Amino acid sequence: MGSILQCMDCAQQYPTTQVIYTCPACGGLLDVIHDLDALRSQVSREFFDSRLGSLDFPYNSGVWRYKEMVNPEIPPDLIVSHPEGNTNLYKHQGLADYAGIKSLYLKHEGENPTGSFKDRGMTGGVSQARVLGMNRVACASTGNTSASLASYAAFAGLQGIVLFQNKQIAIGKLAQAVAYGAACIRVDADFDRNIQLVRQLSTELDIYVLNSVNPFRLEGQKTIMFEIMQQLRWQAPDWIVCPGGNLGNSSAFGKGLRELYALGLIDKLPRIAIIQAEGANPLYRAYQNGFSHFNSMHAETIATAIKIGNPVNYPKAVRAVQWTEGAVEEVTDQEIMDAKAKIDASGIGCEPASACSVAGIRKLVEKGEIRRGETVVGILTGHVLKDAEATISYHRGELDGIESHYANHIHDATDSIEAIRAIIEGIHFARA
Ligand code: F0G
Repeated sequence: MGSILQCMDCAQQYPTTQVIYTCPACGGLLDVIHDLDALRSQVSREFFDSRLGSLDFPYNSGVWRYKEMVNPEIPPDLIVSHPEGNTNLYKHQGLADYAGIKSLYLKHEGENPTGSFKDRGMTGGVSQARVLGMNRVACASTGNTSASLASYAAFAGLQGIVLFQNKQIAIGKLAQAVAYGAACIRVDADFDRNIQLVRQLSTELDIYVLNSVNPFRLEGQKTIMFEIMQQLRWQAPDWIVCPGGNLGNSSAFGKGLRELYALGLIDKLPRIAIIQAEGANPLYRAYQNGFSHFNSMHAETIATAIKIGNPVNYPKAVRAVQWTEGAVEEVTDQEIMDAKAKIDASGIGCEPASACSVAGIRKLVEKGEIRRGETVVGILTGHVLKDAEATISYHRGELDGIESHYANHIHDATDSIEAIRAIIEGIHFARA
């Protein structure tokens, strides 16, 4: 049996060659289901370890190293890869202390080609667009998906189309989408509305949708889990903690971890904790009521990447939390920016949304959900340069309603040795 598309609600199956994103029968979200029985005799820790450091396309990619578990049937000449993945897993004591635990790893997905984890999903989705013979690809985005789509579409020779709201997109992300040559459409509507628009337009105009409702995106993104486990020599940590917006990443993590476990590549399932910004927390609110009901909301947060009030992948994220006995937490913008300042000052750096991971771990430790001795991997989803404006404004103390607890003030000096010396001698150096 090859891979198939399967509805997560009614289990109806469809061939992977059909251009669909949700179940035509009941509207449920689709999974790409692989033949795990066949895979069991094919893949092993040693099999994937033998590809580490490969110089050969496509196995030089941290996504396609796991091709058998991502898209086994795709002919290599249709794969569009930069290559992505192979990102660092940092261990940092100062940040572990800040979070309140002994052992903290940070997986930096901002080290992907366009500076965010989206590249892992995009190589999966754009490659599938080529399998399906689609010439145009589109997404609605808070910024990173559009940057990634624009790059991968250009690389593949496809037309990229991106919709984003006309305010609050971080300048670095907008610059990327424009530079990579996508058709950039600013819409006077928020992300949640833009995603509806893009889905409707794509059906009418025969355009392939590359938002995370597309199950092939999630197949790429789940390799973050595969790579972490491989970097930890297949010893699963206790917790995986990540930010949650449209909930594609956390959904992909749940699926990926379950597959690793089912195939015997890891011996236990880590628990997934999804962290939302307080002003964009529909999953957290639903978690509070035991997922008995879900209400969408109007979203507001400084972490514009996750300013999402009606996440498309809600049911899959619930499933990921339930599968792994995970948790959902919320953090304030203040907590996000403080954690970001700490991550940045450690020399690792990330964009605001990514800092939810560390802020969330800290909070879950305070609440006793994560224990001090447990091993935790936090996911940093985007690069520090993505939202330079938020960073500079924080350090200048210019963010409304946010106190710059860890500000690194920029000094101004006249053209004189004395003036500069006085500044240097007055600096107090504290190790992050
Ligand atoms: N972190 C960053 C930096 C993001 O850009 C996003 C999502 C997330 C976290 C949340 O991930 O949606 O899978 O729960 N950005 C999307 C975009 C929505 O359009 O770039 P998620």
